[in-house]
Amino acid sequence: MKNKKILLFTLLLLSCNTLFSQSSGKTLKDALKGKFYIGTALNLGQISGKDVADIDVIKQNFNAIVAENCMKSMYLQPKEGEFDFADADKFVTFGEQNGMWITGHCLIWHSQLPRWFFIDENGNNVSPETLKARMKSHISTVVGQYKGRIKGWDVVNEAIMEDGSYRKSKFYEILGEEFIPLAFQYAQEADPNVELYYNDYNEWYPGKRATVVRLIKTLKERGIRIDAIGMQGHVGMDGPSMEEYEQTILDYTRAGVKVMVTEFDLSILPAPRQGVGADISTNFAYQKELNPYTEGVPDSASTAWTNRMSDFFKLFLKYPGKVSRVTMWGVTDGGSWKNGFPVRGRTDYPLLFDRKYQAKPVVAEIIRLAEKK
Ligand code: G3I
Repeated sequence: MKNKKILLFTLLLLSCNTLFSQSSGKTLKDALKGKFYIGTALNLGQISGKDVADIDVIKQNFNAIVAENCMKSMYLQPKEGEFDFADADKFVTFGEQNGMWITGHCLIWHSQLPRWFFIDENGNNVSPETLKARMKSHISTVVGQYKGRIKGWDVVNEAIMEDGSYRKSKFYEILGEEFIPLAFQYAQEADPNVELYYNDYNEWYPGKRATVVRLIKTLKERGIRIDAIGMQGHVGMDGPSMEEYEQTILDYTRAGVKVMVTEFDLSILPAPRQGVGADISTNFAYQKELNPYTEGVPDSASTAWTNRMSDFFKLFLKYPGKVSRVTMWGVTDGGSWKNGFPVRGRTDYPLLFDRKYQAKPVVAEIIRLAEKK
């Protein structure tokens, strides 16, 4: 009986959400058509078809998808030579059935990958030749599995630090900077027609931005494909400024690539410190004053959040074609990773749809802005 009541309540919510989007005549993807893809990240609950309410919002409002987790190397190749594509297959099939732009995330990342990738039978670092072979095998198998179906790949994720130095990951330790061109080369060989991206966070830091621009030029000089830079877009109320974000868009497009806002969420909560970024290993102790909105958001804070989110979309709409995709890192506030990062156990409100699957007022504002262009 209880489940029936939950299902009826969910269906009632969906009808309200449907009415809302139809009352404005357009949904997000309708209004942004021809400007840029508007996407979201899918978790296993959505990919499996279990989260009915989320799926309705996704189908109505988004025309691009990326897998939040299930295509990371620790899930796709947990043991050397043993691939598990079950969840990834469901994800890609969902995207094809709904005519969506499908992005693969991510082939080479220092995090969320199986330990075997770097160590030999004695537990020591493998040789450069062995690591290259393992990278090539992973990339060619995974990209090959979805050749012609996935339209773009986050080939390398988060390899550069804010000061412009390279992250001292095992990839860097064993292969130096060369691991990045190699990863792109292997992906291009596996599917010459798929778009290839470098993806990172905090790219508005001048040092990081300059190194990314050098990376773009290096790949292009070597005839290695790179189509876009993914600017993850995990931002807060305290930064970055629109000017910093715009300068980064301009620097990357002048270097000859598109920009994709790949993991956009706008935290309304106080940051434990400036420039926290999105390094998943970051974690700060819980403090009550860092979690002020457990019972909802006061109008003043909500208005400030709406204005800042609108400002970001005004900026993206200023560069149609150069900004080719904006992907939200999740569907509703309740499902956002930001409720647990960089402080566990908080209540954040970083996305476009609330915990009742309703479009926030900013959605109507984005639609209005898009139709003005
Ligand atoms: O699936 C297991 C579940 O079985 C287990 O009970 C539970 C508790 O241990 O963990 C679940 O796995 C979690 C997974 O998310 C799925 O929820 C992992 O512990 C957790 O580490 C993982 O976090 C993800 C994180 O990347 C690390 O992969 C976040 O959801 C995801 O939003 C985040 O996304 C990254 C991008 O890929 C790259 N850019 C930064 C961004 C934020 O870190």
